[in-house]
Amino acid sequence: MKLTLSVIKADIGGYVGHSDSHPECLCEADNKLAKAKESGLLIDYHVTKCGDDLQLIMTHQKGENSPDVHEMAWDTFVACTNVAKRLKLYGAGQDLLTDAFSGNIKGMGPGAAEMEFEERTSEPVVIFMADKTSSGAWNMPLYKMFADPFNTIGLVIAENMHQGFNFEVHDVKESKKITFSTPEEIYDLLVFIGAPNRYPVKAVYTKSGEIAASSSTQKLAFLAGRYVGKDDPVCIVRCQGAFPAVGEVLEPFAQPYLVEGWMRGSHWGPIMPVGVADSLPTRFDGPPRVIAQGFQLSQGRLVGPRDFFADVSYDKAREKANEMAYMMRKHGPFEPHRLPLDEMEYTTMPQVSRKLESRFKPI
Ligand code: 13P
Ligand code: 13P
Ligand code: MG
Ligand code: MG
Ligand code: MG
Ligand code: MG
Repeated sequence: MKLTLSVIKADIGGYVGHSDSHPECLCEADNKLAKAKESGLLIDYHVTKCGDDLQLIMTHQKGENSPDVHEMAWDTFVACTNVAKRLKLYGAGQDLLTDAFSGNIKGMGPGAAEMEFEERTSEPVVIFMADKTSSGAWNMPLYKMFADPFNTIGLVIAENMHQGFNFEVHDVKESKKITFSTPEEIYDLLVFIGAPNRYPVKAVYTKSGEIAASSSTQKLAFLAGRYVGKDDPVCIVRCQGAFPAVGEVLEPFAQPYLVEGWMRGSHWGPIMPVGVADSLPTRFDGPPRVIAQGFQLSQGRLVGPRDFFADVSYDKAREKANEMAYMMRKHGPFEPHRLPLDEMEYTTMPQVSRKLESRFKPI
């Protein structure tokens, strides 16, 4: 059966500050999606959170960019925003950048990762969700999963993966896209995706054109033209068979790497893999978090989730991320902890420069 898996998310209000989601908001989302399932729009759904971001995981047969599914997700975020407003949660409706829905949720603030595929005999998927970081944060792990044999031994020893994968890369500044074929073009690919802020990996495909991974790439700052919080992206990855094994898909997160985000969206910090219950960015509003929820799909039913990063084998990664957090925090307001000027989400530079203009003398 042709199935669509949609993950649509938004920050509709934080509890307390930007650190968590309120259970009443999750409950409201559950009620709305239960109705959508009852009406037949959705086959199944799972509501969860990553930090202050509300996550709607949905299966249906309406295809990607379905106006019906997107509108229902938008209405759910609006209803949850009303709950957040009643509780006076922080930044109620933060990611809803427009007042009225207009056909597709893309460009309106919420992030979306979707894929349509023929459900296999067994269809394991992992959904990654992050808080306090930008779209593009999946570039390094997607590269490792689908192109790095030191991470994914299947690229070397599995006959159905040995030919490699295609990476669809977006230029978010110029609204262009390009596809790279790996392993032949990994050096060309890395020139671009090594700059994840500008060139996020949108999707990965097998060489025969099967969708393997899909990520959200919306840039809130571009959409809003001002700081409205971080993108806090999501990513869907299919596993096993012609795709990497579940363990190969999870492995990149055992080595925390630095991402943009953290306090006021303006710092580099380590991404820490955690279980859902620990997705509570706290220290300096962080460090950035990533959760991984695993499902087996059965005729569209979401059998799961398995909360992968709650596992003890990620204890060391958390410890390392905490060490990296201390190292970065020691720099205080200095680069390379603070982002360079042109990438900062907000800055007082124009006001301070204007105030001091007459005091600047030629040297
Ligand atoms: P099992 O024998 O437990 O199914 O493991 C197979 C495998 O390929 C693990 O990566
Ligand atoms: P969020 O995007 O998670 O709301 O983060 C905003 C922020 O500024 C944290 O300091
Ligand atoms: Mg927030
Ligand atoms: Mg957030
Ligand atoms: Mg955000
Ligand atoms: Mg087995």
